Amino acid sequence: MDKKNIDWSNLGFGYIPTDKRFVANFKNGAWDEGELTSDSMITMSECAGVLQYAQTIFEGMKAYTTEDGRIVTFRPDLNAQRFEESAKRLEMPVYPQDKFVEAIVETIKANKEFVPPYGSGATLYIRPYMFGISPVIGVKPAQDYQFRTFCTPVGPYFKGGAKPITIKISDFDRAAPHGTGHIKAGLNYAMSLHAIVTAHNEGFDENMYLDAATRTKVEETGGANFLFVTKDNKVVTPKSNSILPSITRRSLMYVAKEYLGLEVEEREVFKDELKDFAECGLCGTAAVISPVGKIVDHGEEICFPSGMEEMGPITKKLYETLTGIQMGRIEAPEGWLVEIK
Ligand code: PLP
Ligand code: COI
Repeated sequence: MDKKNIDWSNLGFGYIPTDKRFVANFKNGAWDEGELTSDSMITMSECAGVLQYAQTIFEGMKAYTTEDGRIVTFRPDLNAQRFEESAKRLEMPVYPQDKFVEAIVETIKANKEFVPPYGSGATLYIRPYMFGISPVIGVKPAQDYQFRTFCTPVGPYFKGGAKPITIKISDFDRAAPHGTGHIKAGLNYAMSLHAIVTAHNEGFDENMYLDAATRTKVEETGGANFLFVTKDNKVVTPKSNSILPSITRRSLMYVAKEYLGLEVEEREVFKDELKDFAECGLCGTAAVISPVGKIVDHGEEICFPSGMEEMGPITKKLYETLTGIQMGRIEAPEGWLVEIK
């Protein structure tokens, strides 16, 4: 199989259309079989539920070329489960979990030439999503839905890759206590756009959101969960019902404990204790682990001892072990890798 002629090592995190995408439709109360198509365009009613009331959910996952040349994807069963949770919360029909994984596998298989080569630093990002497609004018769920999956080759989410970033504590909230922060709904991202544009205009790479009720606890960023390392090497991650349960974070906590023998803790993390941590990182499918060097709280700087030049030592070990598992250099726990044949 020949790879596409793409400058893999210089890719950013952007959209490059590939040859095929998967489409299935929910009509008259049932899903059709779905199929691959070359058509990247969607035609829908001007009054579609997604356009009027933002009834849309998505997932994000990746495919990798391993050191020995296989193509694999990472824990798609967990994305399928989370997609089901998201659908239920927005009153959408569930796309069956086994069909979800099948759609991912079929989409990767049909775009093998776009899976970046081993060692290029790039990966194939996969974006499954579902939206209300039939007309809705009174506020209620749509009747008909479309499920789609496309993929696009990507490089690092943050420019500079492994170089530590600077973030600010946002004055905006991302999620309400009993809202939708724990699911992957487009609406969560729409309402973070003003906050991220503001942060970028002020020279920051990302926002740290606090809990909306008390504004004393750390939640997450617009697209990743937090991991902290204490000065005595414990790995700590915030616990909250209004953050997205990151698959990368859950995997890293397992890796920290089972592969690196570190103590791990999922608990409430207070803004006031940020200054006591030794390292900080953002973790997610797109972000992998992006080190944070500095957090700015209304002019007050919290600088982590790991500095602005390199990842901290524990963050680096976590990064190397996780990517080692994903690229087939380190043995994966049972069921974590699904091979695309
Ligand atoms: N938090 C938010 C808000 C996200 O959008 C993402 C990305 O998917 C994550 C966390 C990380 O989740 P995962 O590791 O499952 O990609
Ligand atoms: C992902 O990591 O897959 C996400 O969906 C985050 C998004 C902000 C790109």
